[in-house]
Amino acid sequence: MSSTDSHLETLQWPGCAVEGYLVMIDQTMLPGEIKQIECRDVETVWEAIKMLRVRGAPAIGIAAAYGYVIGLQSADPHDDEAYFATASQTRDHLAASRPTAVNLFWALDRMHQLCLSLRGELTPSEITARMLDEARAIHLEDREMCRAIGKFGAELLGDEVQGVLTHCNAGGLATAEYGTALSVFFTAQDQGRSFHVFVDETRPLLQGARLTAWELLQRGIDATLICDSMAAQVMKEGKIQAVVTGADRIAANGDAANKIGTYSVAVLARAHGIPFYIAAPSSTFDLSLQSGDEIPIEERQAEEITHGFGRQTAPHGIQVYNPAFDVTPADLIEAIITEKGIIQPVHRNNIQHVLQVT
Ligand code: MRU
Repeated sequence: MSSTDSHLETLQWPGCAVEGYLVMIDQTMLPGEIKQIECRDVETVWEAIKMLRVRGAPAIGIAAAYGYVIGLQSADPHDDEAYFATASQTRDHLAASRPTAVNLFWALDRMHQLCLSLRGELTPSEITARMLDEARAIHLEDREMCRAIGKFGAELLGDEVQGVLTHCNAGGLATAEYGTALSVFFTAQDQGRSFHVFVDETRPLLQGARLTAWELLQRGIDATLICDSMAAQVMKEGKIQAVVTGADRIAANGDAANKIGTYSVAVLARAHGIPFYIAAPSSTFDLSLQSGDEIPIEERQAEEITHGFGRQTAPHGIQVYNPAFDVTPADLIEAIITEKGIIQPVHRNNIQHVLQVT
């Protein structure tokens, strides 16, 4: 069962055959409408990622992996040169959809490297079939990683915690199934523990209000929605004992990019003596980057702020700055919860040790 609905998965490839297509929940329609869209060409997958119909770092990576297979479906299987040229074009095009979440590049590179390595060994048609298996493997692995993150995270949280805060959406909608940050809460709930989740609405696109609040309600988890600007007050009132968020890219030193506003929450948590945790799979680490300063931050359209969900809420002509992510410095992060274990304290050597990087 998915964390979103007993029948609907965030991402699906109906049937087993390579002639299939990608089906996803259009997250821009939630919570008002649960609508699925079919992606039968690369452009539709690219647009879905760009427009946040599918969003959340792991889900973007899985969608791109299936998108790569869709690209190969249209490649000429009788012309080796043309086939691999289409593979490269598909990789490059999907990689240009969004810049910050490293899972996108991680999944595309994994797909493309395998594809190239099979040249001469298998026929193009056989390679396309093998690539669908690989996309399915990425999908399945993410499911398993989220479950493991949930177990480690629920244990780390302990029984004493009564109130937690999360920002953006790091739930089933953002992953294959159980989520990263929300997997910690779902697992704690599965263990019979009771606690209260405060959900930042997450301006400007309201992933907290539209998606996290919806997922928590569906699971019967006690939750309260707050505006982002209320977090300090709620912390001061003593209602929060831990903060858990996801991440889009974590550098070698532990600096972590996540949805804009996460850094503010981490600063607030430190000011109130509350532990700030990140929950993320190993596919979210980019050890090629020495620090968070090197993480590319996506800047999105001004209209997301001036015309949030349709209505004009700012005067015409006002200058707008709309970075979609920020970077929380490692020293504000109490621990990073991964599928391989807990990174605590957060520093370069410990990251390499827990991730088993040699
Ligand atoms: O712009 P979005 O909605 O794709 O941003 C998503 C986030 O920032 C999530 O917190 C992050 O990707 C982790 S999802 C498990």
